[in-house]
Amino acid sequence: MTNSMGINCYDFIEFYVGSAKMVAYWYAKALNFEIKGYKGSEYGTKDRVSYYLVKNDIKFVITSYINPASYDITSYLNKHGDGVKRWAFRVDDVTKSYEYAYNHGAVPILEPHKLEDEFGIVEKASIKIYDDTEIVFINYDNYKGIFQPGYYEPIQKIETSANDSHLQFVDHIVGNVRHNEMDYWVDYYCKTMDFERFIYFGPGDISTKFSALLSSVVRTKDSAVKIPINEPYKGLKKSQIQEYLEEFYGSGVQHIAIASDDIIASISALRSNGIEFLSVPDTYYDNLKARNLEISEDIDTLKKHGILCDFEGDGYLLQLFTKPIGDRPTFFFEIIQRRKKSEGFGQGNFQSLFESIEKDQDLRGNLV
Ligand code: FE2
Repeated sequence: MTNSMGINCYDFIEFYVGSAKMVAYWYAKALNFEIKGYKGSEYGTKDRVSYYLVKNDIKFVITSYINPASYDITSYLNKHGDGVKRWAFRVDDVTKSYEYAYNHGAVPILEPHKLEDEFGIVEKASIKIYDDTEIVFINYDNYKGIFQPGYYEPIQKIETSANDSHLQFVDHIVGNVRHNEMDYWVDYYCKTMDFERFIYFGPGDISTKFSALLSSVVRTKDSAVKIPINEPYKGLKKSQIQEYLEEFYGSGVQHIAIASDDIIASISALRSNGIEFLSVPDTYYDNLKARNLEISEDIDTLKKHGILCDFEGDGYLLQLFTKPIGDRPTFFFEIIQRRKKSEGFGQGNFQSLFESIEKDQDLRGNLV
């Protein structure tokens, strides 16, 4: 199956943050990204500054405001704190994708337009998703520059960390939405971008002793991109999704899953760079051993690094979640390695993981 939107893959993800220079430094040193491009006053952009970072096929843009009149950034930061403002899908034809989305009910943000400089033309357009987030349709077929017009060589050289993080590409981007909003956004993806729902976790499927959530995963019909959406569900105490919604002040991106080609090397490198991960009890690995499943990795090695393992059909996946990376308990990363064409999201790990998240939620005084 192809997808009628001409979506090829995830492209860049842009974060709005309080201090782009410092956050870019963190991505270079902690996650092993290379700072490839820069947009700022030295190159004629006066109201904002952006760093363009790359690790294999992952592209991040880290943006801060310079001028307080940059309301798109200041209002976002004031309300949500640091977070994902927009992500892009690379498409065959920006106008065609935008018009399909618009004609099927997408809320427009930016109509198709061309950005041009001496290196060529980039075409882009964007639509709304969740509260203050955007999806960009982008095409670089006629562009040879570093990233997009306005971006040039970084002024300040920041060396990337020495140990390779083995991070390869964006596997999925997850949204957290309010009670009764999940089906609205599932329909939005399906109608406006020709996605289909392929996984649904209903009441009782994902819950701990105290809290619960609902989850759906949508994808393009050729599986080029997958997007899970979570909604809080009533439990004895506050759902972790509800905590996100209250701390983020609305709906938005909860986590980005990044695929690794060697998760043991990834976790080892990231831990030594100071990244904090969720931890699971030792009994998790006793249970894993008792199941006698066929995996290439040594279970004691997985235990040493705290990596989780989940099976689905013939395939399996290895995964681990960081703690929230910023000041608020909102956005975090997942590191994932899929084996034997696994298409799952670690549902077998939900119980242990959510209990681990709840422990931290309790520490923050938000498990009430
Ligand atoms: Fe995930």
